[in-house]
Amino acid sequence: QKGGHKHFMIKEIFEQPKVIADCLAGRVDLKTGTVRLPELEGLTSPKRLHIVACGTSFHAGLWGMNLLESWARIPVRVEIASEFRYRDLLLDEDDVILAISQSGETADTLAGIRRAKQMGASVIGLCNVVGSSVARESDHVIYTQAGPEISVASTKAMCSQLTALYLLALHWGAQKGTLSAEVTQQGIAAVHELPGLLDAELPAMRERSKELARKYSGVSSFMYLGRGLNFPLALEGALKLKEISYIHAEGYASGEMKHGPIALIERDFPTFALAMRDDLLPKVKSNLEEVQARDGRIIALTNPGLDMGVDDAWVIPEVWGPLSAFLALPCLQLFAYEVADYLGKDVDQPRNLAKSVTVE
Ligand code: M6R
Repeated sequence: QKGGHKHFMIKEIFEQPKVIADCLAGRVDLKTGTVRLPELEGLTSPKRLHIVACGTSFHAGLWGMNLLESWARIPVRVEIASEFRYRDLLLDEDDVILAISQSGETADTLAGIRRAKQMGASVIGLCNVVGSSVARESDHVIYTQAGPEISVASTKAMCSQLTALYLLALHWGAQKGTLSAEVTQQGIAAVHELPGLLDAELPAMRERSKELARKYSGVSSFMYLGRGLNFPLALEGALKLKEISYIHAEGYASGEMKHGPIALIERDFPTFALAMRDDLLPKVKSNLEEVQARDGRIIALTNPGLDMGVDDAWVIPEVWGPLSAFLALPCLQLFAYEVADYLGKDVDQPRNLAKSVTVE
């Protein structure tokens, strides 16, 4: 069942190349450079989009917001479902809800869908489990096709959600004409290369995560920092670490550090930084200098040729545009996994958690 792996979580992390390929299958045409999402037939691109989700699915939504706004020029809000469902909402027929849920059974996400429908909004469900409540109650469903996810800590589901969000942003961007045919083609060609690249990289990523886990598993707190597209990944890295290793972890937008959390930094409160090459990297670097000035140790996930000058650089290949998330995410998952396993925790069944949260 675990395919020779010690836990479902590690099996599922290693399934991610296939998950990306399966989510792309039938949806991208390399020859014409187009995305096909027949699930959305009859739906034009939304005037306003509200992404509603919990936990890891919420983090995927935050990442997707960046692409949907920049490529498809759609105003997007991303909301935690338990907040959304009780707010004094302003919704009408022009609003579209994108409900993201691996299980399709999360109580708060479902309640959010029901409220939005009562107010006239239409709902797209992005979920993994076929025939689930979210799938049944949505007007349109995009299945992520990640296969069953057994480990309580969600890994491959997020990878599949990112893939689907990437396709959605390309699709609406092309439909609206806000994204050039050239960039759409580039985006499709680049994502098509990902499964092979990730498959080749995963063994080395695992080795590096083991080394770092041994070095850092004695600490009681971790800071995760990222900016822009890497901010949601910082949140996800912190969530993974806390839920399976029980080490306190905070995910923060790097630029927000100096507004409070920097007070916590000291030698035994290390930082895991997402410092891949992008326009915001110089800003991230200066945030990391602030950490170092307070004796904080740093693991930096970065790309070849970038001299980060940190305690532990973790170098991963550079890929096109926003696709770096697909290489960074498994590193964050592997690090959390190796720390938890090294500490002897019950990785697949962490205390106090259920795979699907069907009560409020
Ligand atoms: O099934 P869903 O995607 O709706 O679940 C949402 C969260 O409960 C889930 O992502 C949770 O945060 C995981 N334990 C994260 O690893």
